[in-house]
Formats: sequence, structure tokens, C-alpha cells
Amino acid sequence: MVRYYCTAGNGMESFLVEEVKKKLAARDVHQIPGKVLFSSSATIHRVCDLKAAERLFLLLKQDSPVGMSTHTSPAKTASVLRSRLLGDRRQWLSAVMTWSRLQGELAASRNAVTASTTHGVREKGRGSERQSDEGKNCRQESRKRSHSFTAEESDEKRQRGREQIRRHALELDKDDDVRESEEVCATYSKKELEQNVESCSKNMDDLGEDAPLESVENVSFRINCKCSGSLSRCVGAQEVSKVIGAGLSKLLGWKADLKNPKLEISVFLSDDYCLLGIPLTRLPLANRSYIKSTGLRSTIAWAMASLAQIQPGFCVVDPMCGVGTILIEAAKEHKAACFLGVDIDDGQLQKADENIAFAELQSRVHLLKASSKALPLPSASVDAVVCDLPFGRKFSTRVNMADNLPLILGEMERVLCVGGTMVVLLSPQLSCLLKKLLSQTHSGPKGNKEDESQTFSSLRHQTTLRVSLGAIDGLIHKYIKTPD
Ligand SMILES: C[S@@+](CC[C@H](N)C(=O)[O-])C[C@H]1O[C@@H](n2cnc3c(N)ncnc32)[C@H](O)[C@@H]1O
Repeated sequence: MVRYYCTAGNGMESFLVEEVKKKLAARDVHQIPGKVLFSSSATIHRVCDLKAAERLFLLLKQDSPVGMSTHTSPAKTASVLRSRLLGDRRQWLSAVMTWSRLQGELAASRNAVTASTTHGVREKGRGSERQSDEGKNCRQESRKRSHSFTAEESDEKRQRGREQIRRHALELDKDDDVRESEEVCATYSKKELEQNVESCSKNMDDLGEDAPLESVENVSFRINCKCSGSLSRCVGAQEVSKVIGAGLSKLLGWKADLKNPKLEISVFLSDDYCLLGIPLTRLPLANRSYIKSTGLRSTIAWAMASLAQIQPGFCVVDPMCGVGTILIEAAKEHKAACFLGVDIDDGQLQKADENIAFAELQSRVHLLKASSKALPLPSASVDAVVCDLPFGRKFSTRVNMADNLPLILGEMERVLCVGGTMVVLLSPQLSCLLKKLLSQTHSGPKGNKEDESQTFSSLRHQTTLRVSLGAIDGLIHKYIKTPD
């Protein structure tokens, strides 16, 4: 069992708590603003594959806040910091050995995957006969699966709509014939496993792990300190770094090296806690190795997809897909669903196309040029809609989104099947407008015929979450379509 903590964007902590519990069977999960602490015995690869996290650290120490006032003398401050943050020598050595072991595991499994990929290429020719048998079995299994899926469908209309979308998607995918797409689906579970290991290892390459330590003696290190809240008025980050640095050199005989240290020690001091850790990867986990052109922050895109509660066989649409981030995050997580991205802009669609190819998701993520104000999709044909509407500096449009919101919302409601989920990301202003539009439709009879064409009475509010998008905040709204 290793004790870790991850940093998370504001509003993302609850998603990360759920994720570590579900994927890592994490224990002693504890959430503080911007961070989630947990213990897990999962492999470091699985831990590094967390999607809601920003950065991953090995936890060195978690404690109550360091009490200080502006009147505390520098000598007293140094003494308090040393006694509260340094602890005993054995604790440090044991933590550093764990860190070194984890770095070794990352390096070893990456090497193993590289070797097995090379071996796999050599074996490919020899295994073709066996593969064709497996392929046949898998195809039969896949047909069975899709049959049981259709049998479960009660609404014929919805079924016809889905078929139309699938046909449309296949037409768009000029190179794929139906047989080929069946094969991709059918061989998924086996291929998926290989891809998972490979993508983890690619991720590790991109995140850049450090080399394991040869010895825990003579380690070079650097302190990276952040102080927040009223504590930052009593003591500066530089002062803390100096005190801890000097203390560590004395305690362990380590050497401070600001330029190229072997170890980076992160220290967070706030009015609520103090936390010490060692980063396990050089780059944030939030940097996705499978995305070429970035759009919406991948952690937020992943959170939106997770709110959509995608199930096997689902058809998911993003009617303003941009470069396809939400669909890619969703498709990586949900291997047995199909996805359609719609956008009006050729440039965005071009990048989305490249991103989808780069992420090797062409068989399940399709694109369509159209306006979200008039989606060329049958009514009640989609199981989930996820959408990040244009707002803010990066994605502002010349068109006033507030004017278009009723129309876009109406289209999303129309294409959704009953029981389907709608997850939208909006600016605080658009969020207020959405609430207003929905409260109008939920309160009493409509005034005139024109209003009736824009009724959202079937959308039931589930949740609204505020998340940080960097400079601004966004609000994620979730609705379920109910029978009218
Ligand atoms: C906020 S961006 C989406 C970003 C996307 N989530 C990503 O990660 O790249 C909004 C997108 O809506 C598209 N858009 C604007 N008006 C549209 C319309 N009427 N119909 C369809 N797409 C539209 C823009 O081209 C832009 O790509």
C-alpha cells in the first residue's frame, strides 16, 4: 500500500475521489481543496492513468497547519518549520526508497512493453492462422452482443434513429466497410488490453519518469514550496525552502542542487494543512499523450464524459465538438460505445479528424459538418449529448450564444432518447440563462405557439458543478430527458 496525493483543478476533487475509489480500490481517501490523498496497492501504471488528476505525488508527510503569526521571530519560525516538517531520518529514507522503487517499476514495465511489442511484430506472421479463428469467434460474439442490445430496445423509433446514425457514420468513413467495422468491435477486448498497456507506457514516455536512485546517500535535491492563505503573510516560500533544505542536508547528508536535482521535494503550507511530497512524473498526468491538438482541458472533458454515464452500445453526440476532446476522452474510457462529433467549422473538424486518428479511434468516433441549431439527426436517436458551448477568450464566437441557446438546447433535447443524458459546459452567464429558460418551461402553460416550439419540459435537472477553466470558471449542467 503506497500513500499518494494528486492535485486537481478546482471543482475536480470529487471526480478524482470517485475515480481513485473505483479504479484503484483506494483506501483512506481524503479530499482537501485542490488535492486528493489516498492509499492504494494498484500498480504505479494504473495510478499514472488517472484521468481527473493534474499531478501525482508520493506523500511524505501530511500534518495540521504550522501555526505562526507575523510577530514570530525568524529564529523561532525556522525552529517551528524544522520540528514540524523534517521529522526523523528513517521516515525520509523509507519514503525515498519507495519513490525509487516506483520509478524502477515504471522503467521496467516500459521496457517490458517495448520488448513485447517488438516480439509481437516478429510473431505476427506466425500467429495469423490462430488469429483468423479467434476473429471468427469474436465476430460471432459481437453479433450476439449487438443482437441482445437491439432486443433490449423497446422504442422502435429510437432504434431506427440509431441505425440511421450508424449508417451515416459508416458512409462518412469511406475506407471502412461494415465487415471491417464489425471486426474492430469484435476483437476489442483482446486488442483493448494490449492498447491499454501500450498507451500507459506511451504515457509514461511522455510524462517522463526519473531514474531510480542507486543509493539513498548523497542524493541531490531541490525544494519547491508554496505558501497560501494568511500563513503566506507570516513566512515566505523561499524562507521555508531554505530552512528545509539546510535541515535535510544536515539530517541526511544530501546536497541541494537547484538546476538538476535527482529529487524534487514539494512543500505546500496553508492555513488548513501542511503537505510534503515527491512528484512521481515530471509532466502532469493531465497532459494526454494521445491528443495532438488540445481543446478543452482534458480533465474537464473526462469529467463531462463520466457524468454522461455512458453504457455499452450507447450512441453519444457532441454537437459542438471542436477538436474532439470530450469524445476522445469518452471513447478512451468507454470502449463499447460509438461517438459522433458535429461542428460547423472546417478548421476545427480537420483538427478533430487528426486527433481522432492520432488517438486511433477512427472506428468509433465519427465526424459530421453541420450546425447544432439544426442537427441532421432523427429525434430520440441519441443516448447521451455532451457539449462545451463557445464562450471565453479561446472559444468566443461572433454570434451571440445567448440568442442561440434556446435553439441549440431544443435540438439537443429533440435528438436525445427518453432516459438519455445531456451534459453541457457553460459560462456563468450562459448558465443563468439556461436555468431561466428551463424554469420558464417548468412553470405553467406557455403563452403562444412560438414558445411551444421551444419547450424543454422533458429535461430534468440532475446536478450543476462549478469547475475552474484557468482564467475563468465554467458550470457543468447535467439533465436527464424524461417522458413529456
Ligand atoms: C468551445 S468550442 C468546443 C471545444 C471542444 N470541446 C474542444 O475540446 O475542442 C465550441 C465549438 O463550437 C463550434 N460551433 C460554433 N457555432 C456552432 C454551430 N452553430 N454549430 C456547430 N458548431 C458550432 C465552434 O466551431 C467550436 O469548435
